[in-house]
Amino acid sequence: MKSFLHVQDIGDLGRALAEAREVKASPFAWQHLGHNKTIILVFFNSSLRTRLSSQKAALNLGMNPIVLNVNGDSWKLETELGVVMDGDKSEHLREAIPVIGSYCDIIGVRSFAQFVDREAEYAETIINQFVEYSGKPVISLESATVHPCQAFADLITIDEYKTKSRPKVVLTWAPHPRALPQAVPNSFAEWMNAADVDFVITCPHGYELAPQFAGNARVEYDQMKAFEGADFIYAKNWSSYSDYGKILSMDMNWTVGARQMAVTDNAYFMHCLPVRRNMIVTDEVIDSPRSIVIPEAANRVVSAQVVMKRMLESL
Ligand code: CP
Repeated sequence: MKSFLHVQDIGDLGRALAEAREVKASPFAWQHLGHNKTIILVFFNSSLRTRLSSQKAALNLGMNPIVLNVNGDSWKLETELGVVMDGDKSEHLREAIPVIGSYCDIIGVRSFAQFVDREAEYAETIINQFVEYSGKPVISLESATVHPCQAFADLITIDEYKTKSRPKVVLTWAPHPRALPQAVPNSFAEWMNAADVDFVITCPHGYELAPQFAGNARVEYDQMKAFEGADFIYAKNWSSYSDYGKILSMDMNWTVGARQMAVTDNAYFMHCLPVRRNMIVTDEVIDSPRSIVIPEAANRVVSAQVVMKRMLESL
């Protein structure tokens, strides 16, 4: 595997889920693969789960993880090509990427959307520079439009908790005071569209995901109707794709609470975290026995480890 951004990069999902079960059962069984190998994790943005789960996955595989906090630990990096570098950014990605590549065997990159240029961000210009100029396999740790390690962990969690062969999975928009990227819902939709689930997206008008991620998913603008008979509720805020990066609604009727969960088929509640309580979801729901946000986060180690294992095997 040369890069991990999209569901197609992992290949057959049944095989990936079987491998995830093996890795979870025997996390240290592949330590020989990572012996004398190094992964550099480059963070342009904050993280708790991705940073720690990626390091833990690398350590489980016997690798040496190095974390670089860009804008904190290193020189500020210029990402635009052709600019006069007379501002506060001292180094360009064109030099930094091959240098980073020369120090490691695998690279992970977190680089959020800035909501400046939708076309450039949907072309994933930053992470694709890492793919092009590093000469090393590259993992998206949430880039401008995708968060594949999260979506893979979400799929693993659904596979573990499902009691029906084809569960109903609902992705619901929920309010948030800040404009958030579309990466998590984009990847969740991409992976659910590829999985054997009945997938529904519910959101206010204006929050439709980009067509390449929404695919053929059913879109229902009535949240209560979407929740009927659901087995899994996946809540997330995202900003508008069509009115790029804008907050169009703060309607607190969309906050997931007991009222909506009551019409589901005793659904499990999921969220990628971090979550703003009583904005996205009420305390009552996230603290209930049907909330699986912690095992979902724990599976971030498993998804990262499967991806790194595949990359080590193909070096
Ligand atoms: N879900 C997730 O990616 O969490 P962090 O932003 O804390 O890494």
